[in-house]
Amino acid sequence: MIRARITGTGAYAPEQRLTNDDLALRIATSDEWITTRTGIKNRHIAADGEQTSDMATRAAARALEMAGIGPRDLDMIIVGTISGDMPMPACAAFVQDKLGARCPSFDVSAACAASVYGLSIADKFIRAGAARHVLVIGAELLSRLLDWEDRNTCVLFGDAAGAMVVSADEGEGERGLLATRLHTDGSQRGILFIPGGGSIHPATHDTVDQRLHKVKMNGREVFKVAVRALSDVIGETLGAAGYTAADVDHVVPHQANIRIVDAVLERVQIPREKAILNIDRYGNTSSASVPVTLDEGVRSGRIKDGDLVMMMAIGAGMSWGGAVVRW
Ligand code: ACO
Repeated sequence: MIRARITGTGAYAPEQRLTNDDLALRIATSDEWITTRTGIKNRHIAADGEQTSDMATRAAARALEMAGIGPRDLDMIIVGTISGDMPMPACAAFVQDKLGARCPSFDVSAACAASVYGLSIADKFIRAGAARHVLVIGAELLSRLLDWEDRNTCVLFGDAAGAMVVSADEGEGERGLLATRLHTDGSQRGILFIPGGGSIHPATHDTVDQRLHKVKMNGREVFKVAVRALSDVIGETLGAAGYTAADVDHVVPHQANIRIVDAVLERVQIPREKAILNIDRYGNTSSASVPVTLDEGVRSGRIKDGDLVMMMAIGAGMSWGGAVVRW
């Protein structure tokens, strides 16, 4: 049986950091408010001239190196992003060229859930025998899409990219992606969105003046939907793989808010010590969050061969998903 296995991970975050204290100099907020409400202390901000595809390419190069393959070995590149270099073409086209790959390359738009969506797509192509090596990237440069005068949103997000090489494995035993589950509830599309720049509000001077090209969010609603959806998808995905929460060795959660992660873990009864957390250092990096966190777990040696890893993410749409991996 062919299984999809994550053979390489990589991450990249821009050098420049923005702390809560830095933000408190610009807007009416405080380190205490941000830390207690979100768990975030710091985020990374891309340099002028640095693009989403630059971050994605750096993360990808590290993942390819770990996997021991080159860009020409890739059969597909999937970039999860809502903040690509341009509305058209796909960010994946930029990444393909910068890496020197030749394969079909496309973006997935599922906001913070996009790398889990990409993982699930890669899994299906590999199991079908239609691809041997798929590069899945989550890359976001949200600092250019934030309203830096809106304290409800601008304190939450950061820039980063994470990458995973997913490869076909025909070896014996249970190793690789065991199950993925994806969901969308489009009736919740109005709680987290960027209204301008599409067919409803094409760019005009007015849309720019009204800040319609910036992230808008109803934080309380997002919080409620996220806790319910992520708790449910953990049970569903583990069940599909034949496991329960008690079997999980590591949780790699989307780092949206420490209180969301804690509420989810409590509901599914997984101790916090099993969660790999970095929200204090990166903030919410949207689609990059899961692969960046996975890379930390792998490179630190915390995730070991044979461990059962539960990944989950949710974002605008609302779209969410889970993936269970036997490492
Ligand atoms: N600093 C200081 N005060 C603030 C800030 C800030 N940065 N932001 C909001 N406030 C104020 C509000 O204006 C409000 O003041 P008021 O009572 O005078 O009106 C007060 O703090 C309380 O606001 P709430 O919205 O009730 O605060 P809450 O406890 O819900 O926390 C938060 C807000 C952190 C956004 C929370 O709702 C949340 O985390 N939601 C989830 C959002 C999220 O994770 N989004 C990420 C994208 S989606 C995803 O990745 C899943």
